[in-house]
Amino acid sequence: EKEYEQEKILKGKKVLITAGPTREKIDPVRYFTNPSTGKMGYALARQAASMGAEVILISGPVALDTPKSVDRIDVTTADEMYEQVVSRYADCDIVIKAAAVADYRPKNTYEQKMKKSPGDYVVEMERTKDILMELGERKEHQYLIGFAAETDEPERYGREKLAKKHLDAVVINNVASEGSGFGTDTNASLFITQKGKEMTYPLMSKDELAMNILKGTVEELESESP
Ligand code: CTP
Ligand code: CA
Repeated sequence: EKEYEQEKILKGKKVLITAGPTREKIDPVRYFTNPSTGKMGYALARQAASMGAEVILISGPVALDTPKSVDRIDVTTADEMYEQVVSRYADCDIVIKAAAVADYRPKNTYEQKMKKSPGDYVVEMERTKDILMELGERKEHQYLIGFAAETDEPERYGREKLAKKHLDAVVINNVASEGSGFGTDTNASLFITQKGKEMTYPLMSKDELAMNILKGTVEELESESP
């Protein structure tokens, strides 16, 4: 975690960032989640704020401090994240979806703790809404950046997400590679834009990667409106 002296290249821009995992409850003592710690999203929020942006951070449950000058909204489930993101989408300039949103949640949830009993227990799961997909479908003036967490053929699957979700850019991470992915302080990524810019970022701190992503985004925005 580091404060860099930044040029205020995002001054006047409203940036919405999602971070962390979501948590999908079965009963008061059990839930499904994933290994996301929120570091990448928080690094993006911190660097965007220090570049002068007005930053809203929609965060799943994480153990991180709120970066300086960032407006943080805490959520737990994919559904709550959906509500917060979609209701704020209209007046955002840049949206970055770094959160690891659950794809499935338990179909039934219980207010009372379930007691264990002998034998197996099968949990039926249902799909959550794909927040990013919906943002892509509703996109107007926003610059929309998604993440792709992959273990096999990262570039192929990442490109598919860029196209399918109508993104302006995708940050592809191989979460199975050394030093990258969940919980690490570093990431190696491929940044691909819809307009055809491709950047390979070697293993670097998540703060440095965040700066690169944001600078790359500003360059794209400037090339749009000369
Ligand atoms: N995402 C989302 N809502 C979901 C699932 C994913 O907004 N319900 C977003 C993530 O925040 C990320 C992007 O979609 O920016 C890609 O997430 P990823 O898990 O890599 O891909 P999926 O589209 O969920 O496909 P799969 O997990 O099958 O690879
Ligand atoms: Ca997923």
